[in-house]
Amino acid sequence: MYRFLLLLLFFGATEGLFAQGKYKIQKELVAEKAMVVSAHPLASEAGRDILKKGGNAVDAMVAVHFALAVVYPKAGNIGGGGFMVYRDKNGNASTLDFREKAPLTASRNMYLDKNGNAIDSLSRNGHLAVGVPGSVAGMFEAHKKYGKLPWSVLLEPAVKLAENGFEITAQEANALNYNQKNFARINQHENAFVKKTAWKSGQKLMQKELAEVMRRIQQNGQDGFYKGKTAELIVDDMKRGGGIISMQDLEKYQAKWRNPIVFEYKKNYKVITMPPPSSGGVVLAILMQMVEDQPLEQMGFHSPAAVHLMAEAERRAYADRAEHLGDSDFYPVPIEAMLDKAYAKLRMRDYNEKKATPSKQIKAGKPIKTSEQTTHYSIVDADGNAVSVTTTLNGNYGSSVVVKGAGIILNNEMDDFSAKPGSPNMFGLLGAEANAIQPEKRMLSSMTPTILEKDGKLFMVVGTPGGATIITSVFQVIMNVIEFRLPLQDAVQKTRFHHQWLPDQIYHEKNCFDAATAKKLAEMGHSLKERSSIGQVEAILVRPDGKLEGAADRRGDDSAAGY
Ligand code: GLY
Repeated sequence: MYRFLLLLLFFGATEGLFAQGKYKIQKELVAEKAMVVSAHPLASEAGRDILKKGGNAVDAMVAVHFALAVVYPKAGNIGGGGFMVYRDKNGNASTLDFREKAPLTASRNMYLDKNGNAIDSLSRNGHLAVGVPGSVAGMFEAHKKYGKLPWSVLLEPAVKLAENGFEITAQEANALNYNQKNFARINQHENAFVKKTAWKSGQKLMQKELAEVMRRIQQNGQDGFYKGKTAELIVDDMKRGGGIISMQDLEKYQAKWRNPIVFEYKKNYKVITMPPPSSGGVVLAILMQMVEDQPLEQMGFHSPAAVHLMAEAERRAYADRAEHLGDSDFYPVPIEAMLDKAYAKLRMRDYNEKKATPSKQIKAGKPIKTSEQTTHYSIVDADGNAVSVTTTLNGNYGSSVVVKGAGIILNNEMDDFSAKPGSPNMFGLLGAEANAIQPEKRMLSSMTPTILEKDGKLFMVVGTPGGATIITSVFQVIMNVIEFRLPLQDAVQKTRFHHQWLPDQIYHEKNCFDAATAKKLAEMGHSLKERSSIGQVEAILVRPDGKLEGAADRRGDDSAAGY
């Protein structure tokens, strides 16, 4: 009884806590030592338990990643890919690219009809949309380099969740119901996700086949996925559904360590983020450097002047993204030039503080000096090592392919390539030569896992899903904290807006702007368009007293866990 009262006291004191079904979804949490914030409470708890057992941030990452693949099947994955940004307690930073890549027999025009028009459905649904998955290789590689606890221990929570089942949330039930037709059309075999009656919150989702796959990965590491029985099941399914991923594709897949993008903001902040094949880090750097000298704090949060400035910066940075960014192993992306502060200033030379510049007048700069479903998790361990991971299947449930006999949902990441110049992908994003399809090339991403230092110390870990809106959401949350001085909770939970050059529109969430602000923005020449929610941010802030503050986005079942 005493224990129960203590628990009640503890939880009662935690603002933002509410129960949904059997879950304790913790939107706001302050912890003394370590913290995990992810898209699902069971995944956050799996990570926290590993941290409590003495695991470090990378160990927790492995546990969270595999748990999300079970409890958050619309975006958590082993059939997708992602990026990790890591900063150890001494400030050493590295990034790991486990992005999917084009199969060996992929070709530039594989999604075009005989008239040269893009057939969107081919790159978005079904087997041909699948890129060679990178998640398992990424987890294995990160663990090999930084892990402390044994690999098999880290897989155990996910295996149990898949084997024993877990009760789904209302949001997951809705998403599964929405995708029933796709699952049934694309997969002729029975699978865990298709049911004759509608899914309801609180029902159990059992994934026995996935549990067997996870056991093989638990026992054999990377080879448990890319070789042997799991690989054979994937390739058989590809043959059945007209896909092109081969045994050779799977065997050849390797995660890659890459040099992080690091830049200073206002002298005392250092931003550590992801280089290509994500566009996230480069575009975030351009955005932050475009507004660095402007008095955003005085303008005020969501004031017409601040929204105008940030939207104008976004419009220009996304024009650059479309033209210049792609997998730098295959295309000479002018990264250094784009990161130059002088370049950001040059791009804003035609910025008019009173009037919107129509996107048709904006072309990409010339840097010379030369479903929107994804998910993010942020982790800090008791020693101060930090991990920021964004991972994806691309759309909700990816390609909707569920591998027969393996229960793995495969990505539809091939849609992140530019199927044809000028033909938008599912996020309305345009691309050019830099992001054209080539065998083994990684498709351009917007994922922006990011870690910030302030005065040389760990300050913030942040990231989000959201397709094209990922970069602008990360940008806005950082600005909310640094410039608009909002507490982390508000910085994450407040409404957001987004401009991506084309279409020439400021997209915004419901109730984002009051009537006077909307009127003023329209007078400046902006076209405003309300849309569904933008981003699902998971952030951790290190307070001046050293405590960790976690903020899990209100837009989903996201939840923080710590101790
Ligand atoms: N699939 C979304 C992204 O990588 O940007």
